[in-house]
Amino acid sequence: MAWINGRGRRAKRAGRGDIIGAVDIGTTAIRCCIACATKNDGLHAVGVGQQCATGIRHGSIVDMDSAAEAVRRAVQAAEESAGVTLKDVIINVSSAYLESHFVAVELRPRRQKVSKLDLRNAHDQVFCRYESGMGKVVHVVPIEYILDDSRDIQDPVGMFAERFVVRFHVVTTASGPLKNLHSCIERCHLDVADCVVSPFAAGLGSLSDDECEQGVTLIDMGGGTTGIAMFVQGKLRHVDMITVGGNHVTKDLASCLSTSMANAERLKVLYGGAIENESDSRETIDVPPLTSEDGAKGVAPCPEPVARSRVTQIIHARVAETLEIVRSRLAASGFHRMPHRSVVLTGGASQLPGMREITTQILNVDARMGAPNGIEGSESIHVSPGFTTCTGLLAFGASRSSRSVARRTPESTSTHGRLGRFGQWIREHT
Ligand SMILES: Nc1ncnc2c1ncn2[C@@H]1O[C@H](COP(=O)(O)OP(=O)(O)OP(=O)(O)O)[C@@H](O)[C@H]1O
Ligand SMILES: [Mg+2]
Repeated sequence: MAWINGRGRRAKRAGRGDIIGAVDIGTTAIRCCIACATKNDGLHAVGVGQQCATGIRHGSIVDMDSAAEAVRRAVQAAEESAGVTLKDVIINVSSAYLESHFVAVELRPRRQKVSKLDLRNAHDQVFCRYESGMGKVVHVVPIEYILDDSRDIQDPVGMFAERFVVRFHVVTTASGPLKNLHSCIERCHLDVADCVVSPFAAGLGSLSDDECEQGVTLIDMGGGTTGIAMFVQGKLRHVDMITVGGNHVTKDLASCLSTSMANAERLKVLYGGAIENESDSRETIDVPPLTSEDGAKGVAPCPEPVARSRVTQIIHARVAETLEIVRSRLAASGFHRMPHRSVVLTGGASQLPGMREITTQILNVDARMGAPNGIEGSESIHVSPGFTTCTGLLAFGASRSSRSVARRTPESTSTHGRLGRFGQWIREHT
């Protein structure tokens, strides 16, 4: 995954090959985390770097030079704190063009015995069908194996059947934005080790094995996007992305209250809420008005008192609209009638007070707040929902890099680690 330059004691202790680097290219922040995979399928963070994002809009690169500069700085900060130099990184893919497809591939196994080659052929057929000049396959997830008329087969290799069917969930994205991401990382003198769609990564970073098994929807509320990932029976079954996020809330506050974006952001983080409290109408907040002098030195404009309830109403309207879009997208996915319906909210914008309650009201589900789990070594990571995607990228990398180890050591073949069966599934199927 990466090579260690010998500068860092912590990195040396982790052992060569165990260091994983991940870069979350977000609309508001670029985050780089470096971690070691621990024996029990966990992660130990050894370096973190964070920069304000520039050149990114709705998760896609719109200005290559400034995006690459921000990535370079975030990676450099993480490398310096870890005392390692990364060679490659796992990155997230966020775009309005993420699509989930379902396809079944039917094969006639040689001598009626399913082999690994059959699985590979099925996989290749999916790539042939979905890869084109315009679209790229990011994930191919086998969701069901059918041998003749027998369903619910866990592992078909070595089993007998005349007819072998694999049902896949295929995640694609537009090739242009994906190539831009690769080019951005290459400009930072790094290789792309793997790409993971952002909501999937956020799920890997915050969900428990049991939640994924029983069925859960992850909603990652970022600055310029809201990502959706649905997991059923331990597998990724659906992803979607809406190009609306917390920055829209800030813009609404700025335009409705005639204040600057910086003041609106401050107002949102310090006093904002998605649901009105009884006391909100009695409280006022001083909002500096927007003037032509805004930002310049001189006499500060007189702040306008605004009822806190007004602030909450503006925020509520945008959050409710976003969640209504999520609800209609979930309904269109066909999975909304699953028996165990729970939602986990994560991402920076999920931190608004009242977000869990409004989600429960609008989506009619149990909701909980999700933050990075299974990662130790850095307080700044595991208390911040903004780091969930980066943690998931690391977890994805850890599961893949332990593939060879998994076949050697009893600990790592165990399914009771951090990602449990889920990690096992990544090792085997991605
Ligand atoms: N304490 C807070 N309360 C409310 N909102 C917050 C808080 N902290 C951050 N935010 C909001 O979270 C958003 C950024 O979230 P995050 O860092 O997850 O986004 P991102 O990953 O950069 O963007 P995206 O995933 O959409 O590409 C911003 O809109 C910011 O205003
Ligand atoms: Mg994000």
